[in-house]
Amino acid sequence: MTTALITGASSGIGAEFARQLAAQGHDLVLVARHRDRLDSAARDLVSRHGIEVEVLSADLTDPAGLAAAVVRAQDPSRPVSILVNNAGHGLLHDFHHNPLAEEVAHLRLHVEAVMSLCHAVLPGMLARGEGRIINVASVAAFMPRGTYSAAKAWVVAFSRWANAHYRRSGVSVTALCPGLTRTEFHHRMGMETRWLPRWSWLSAESVVRDGLKDSLAGRSVSVPSWRYKAAVLVSKVLPDRVLGHPARRPMGE
Ligand SMILES: NC(=O)c1ccc[n+]([C@@H]2O[C@H](COP(=O)([O-])OP(=O)(O)OC[C@H]3O[C@@H](n4cnc5c(N)ncnc54)[C@H](OP(=O)(O)O)[C@@H]3O)[C@@H](O)[C@H]2O)c1
Repeated sequence: MTTALITGASSGIGAEFARQLAAQGHDLVLVARHRDRLDSAARDLVSRHGIEVEVLSADLTDPAGLAAAVVRAQDPSRPVSILVNNAGHGLLHDFHHNPLAEEVAHLRLHVEAVMSLCHAVLPGMLARGEGRIINVASVAAFMPRGTYSAAKAWVVAFSRWANAHYRRSGVSVTALCPGLTRTEFHHRMGMETRWLPRWSWLSAESVVRDGLKDSLAGRSVSVPSWRYKAAVLVSKVLPDRVLGHPARRPMGE
């Protein structure tokens, strides 16, 4: 049995990682803030798959919460073989409208938590000569769309370097870059999505399936679906002023 630690496992893409990794027989450590949701997911996964599931309720933007997750991730008596850095959220408004504290918390969740947990698991993985890390980024990493894009671009650049550097030692690092995916993400940030075309949406199920396949293949970047692979290619030639639009709309607009 191997153990996978998944952040942001209480909903959306993280909850789907928990379901698919549980179905493959991995024990799980589920991390997020809402303990009730994690407990309920844990009960369901234990009864369906007969695996062991630990729940760790932690706010990863809070130093104490992140420290608790790091302590669990580096525990040599219960080694983590698969790390999925998935917890994340979006900011609806432009950078200059957001309180700096919100921007700092956003950066902590998308960059500091990812860096800290990779740093926590890597020594054990390298000593065992095997391990997989999946860092959930976004296709936004390839476009100039605010501090969200900037943070996800860090995740992609870090994962590309880490995969090239550690793969020969048996540890793969993959940046999973989904496009629009049906989860709670947009509702939580208060973003109107009714105007977005149906074809632009992916399911969490297909995003995770593609991400796990690319991670097993040792790829450094995984962009689920042909339409978003094409979007990333096109984004390389379009000017920034085009890629920065359309702006996000608040719910109800
Ligand atoms: N949905 C999309 O269109 C899309 C596209 C590209 C990339 N992504 C990325 O995919 C990842 C997962 O998002 P999702 O779409 O699945 O959204 P989601 O349904 O809103 O799930 C976000 C998860 O992150 C957890 N989380 C948020 N803030 C946290 C914090 N401070 N500490 C610990 N956990 C926290 C949430 O749990 P709690 O509230 O219980 O803490 C939840 O489990 C994110 O990194 C996001 O940037 C999403």
